[in-house]
Amino acid sequence: MKNDLLIRTLNGEQTERPPVWLMRQAGRILPEYRAIRAAVSGFKELVTSPKLAAEVTTQPIDILKVDAAIIFSDILVIPECMGLPYELVEKVGPRFPRVIENARDINNMRSGDSAASELSYVYDAVRLAKKRLAGRVPLIGFAGAPWTLLAYMVEGGGSKTFSRAKAFLYAQPRLAHLLLDKITETIISYLQQKVIAGVDVLQVFDSWAGILNRDLYETFGLPYLEKICRSVNKVPLIAFAKGAWFSHQAISQLHCEAIGLDWSAPPSWARGVFGEQRVLQGNLDPCALLADDRRIVLETEHMLREFGPHHIANLGHGVYPDTSVESVHTFVNTVQNFRY
Ligand code: CP3
Repeated sequence: MKNDLLIRTLNGEQTERPPVWLMRQAGRILPEYRAIRAAVSGFKELVTSPKLAAEVTTQPIDILKVDAAIIFSDILVIPECMGLPYELVEKVGPRFPRVIENARDINNMRSGDSAASELSYVYDAVRLAKKRLAGRVPLIGFAGAPWTLLAYMVEGGGSKTFSRAKAFLYAQPRLAHLLLDKITETIISYLQQKVIAGVDVLQVFDSWAGILNRDLYETFGLPYLEKICRSVNKVPLIAFAKGAWFSHQAISQLHCEAIGLDWSAPPSWARGVFGEQRVLQGNLDPCALLADDRRIVLETEHMLREFGPHHIANLGHGVYPDTSVESVHTFVNTVQNFRY
């Protein structure tokens, strides 16, 4: 591997500077992505076409010069392979025509190997992306965490409150655990297949952790995340539970190589909870990239100094679609010129 900064950092080495990549770097901001996207019928065609997905995966390496690639796909391929197809409605977001309501819906779902084996288009995309990368940088594979996927499967789409999904946890805890078990088995099989196909690192996105409280998250969220961490250990894993500041103590016990942080925690405070040796990823506010260049440099350098070594530079959530490519360059260059 020509650039192994991310791997060395995840292995606990103290590197000369932090590696940098951006959540949602593939798609959203690059005109080169939009050009490919405009030439196909929609997002799902991109996701299910290994050649195109691999091409979009390597765009940020060629254009943004980041230190890692993340495979172009979506967390919603898991509900789909279990039997709940999704649609992506332009300017609205994901939508599930059918949702989970009762025990029969859950019993009817495929899970584990038989569900994950449906996703050969993802594994093919990983193989092609690895070929295109030709050892330049590591390739990150990912999945949504069980709670976040349950939220979409019960809610039927995005939501400000996810009140249907949360009500399901309160009203049907036994069914919720049954569903979370099936999702977890599928994710484990899926991540193992991705590793066999060639990904070098894994990240699990628990994007909706922060809408739960500590009791709910430590009952319905974290135990399943921990099961994934313990079952998938051939490559380093980054766990990102967005908004779960209330569970940082428990998150620090996860059997994973790094912990992703959203922008709400100051790095120095996070170091107090997780210690100086734990590898932490994040956490610049994506909105900081909407400011002028001088401010982007100041904010980025402040973050880098506060985290110190054992840090993977990233944003505190996915890059926003209205971010200019120039601002992303400024962010990436600032990290790459920094020395501890
Ligand atoms: O990081 C990357 O660049 C790799 C690709 C990636 C996508 N989705 C592509 C995508 C990744 C890692 C995801 C993860 C994802 N998808 C998450 C977890 C991360 C997070 O942001 O919290 C979630 C919650 C989803 C669900 C999802 N998929 C939503 C809410 C949307 C709608 C709008 C949007 O841009 O977020 C999608 C569609 C989607 N997934 C797009 C892309 C590039 C936009 C599709 C398009 O119109 O081209």
